[in-house]
Amino acid sequence: MYTAAVLTVSDRSFQGLRPDEAGPLAASLLKDAGYRVIGTVVVPDEREEIEAALVRLSDELHAALVVTAGGTGFSPRDVTPEATAAVCERMTPGIPEAMRAASLAITPRAMLSRAAAGIRGGTLIVNLPGSPKAARENLEAVLPALEHGLKMLLGGPADCYNQPC
Ligand code: MTE
Repeated sequence: MYTAAVLTVSDRSFQGLRPDEAGPLAASLLKDAGYRVIGTVVVPDEREEIEAALVRLSDELHAALVVTAGGTGFSPRDVTPEATAAVCERMTPGIPEAMRAASLAITPRAMLSRAAAGIRGGTLIVNLPGSPKAARENLEAVLPALEHGLKMLLGGPADCYNQPC
C-alpha cells in the first residue's frame, strides 16, 4: 500500500469562501484505489506557498504520491504547474499527456489545463484541474498506471521486460 497526500490550491477555499470539493474527492478516489492518505492541505494560489507545501509533503511527510487540485488554467494566479516544476528533479510528461488525451474525449476545454507531473526524491507529484468533475476525470485516467511507476520509483528494480504491464 502506498501513501498519498492531497494539496488543494485555491484562493477561495483557502479563504473559506468556497468549500474544498476537489481535494476530498481526490482523497476518496485515492483511498478507493488502495492508497493510505496521510495528509490533506489547502493553500492559496501563491507560488511560494505551493512550493513549500509540496516540499513538506514530499520531504517531511514522505508521501509516495502527492496529488494537487487547482491552479492549472490560464488565470494570472494559476501557477501550480510552475511551482511543481520548480520542486521536481525529473518531470514525467506522460502523465499529463495521458490526462489531457483522455479528457479531450470528454471536453475540448481539456486542452486548457497546463497540469504537470514530476518526481521529487521518492515522491511523485501529479497536478489535477480544480473543478470536482475535472479532477475526477483526470485522476481516473491515470490512476491505474501510477502504481507501476511508484514501484519503479520506490520498490527497487522493477522489471518491465518480464512482467505483464
Ligand atoms: N478536464 C476534464 N477532464 N474535464 C473538464 O471539465 N476542464 C478544463 C480543463 N480540464 C476540464 C478538464 C478547464 S475548463 C480548465 S480552465 C482547465 O482544466 C484548468 O482548470 P483549473 O484552472 O481549475 O486547474
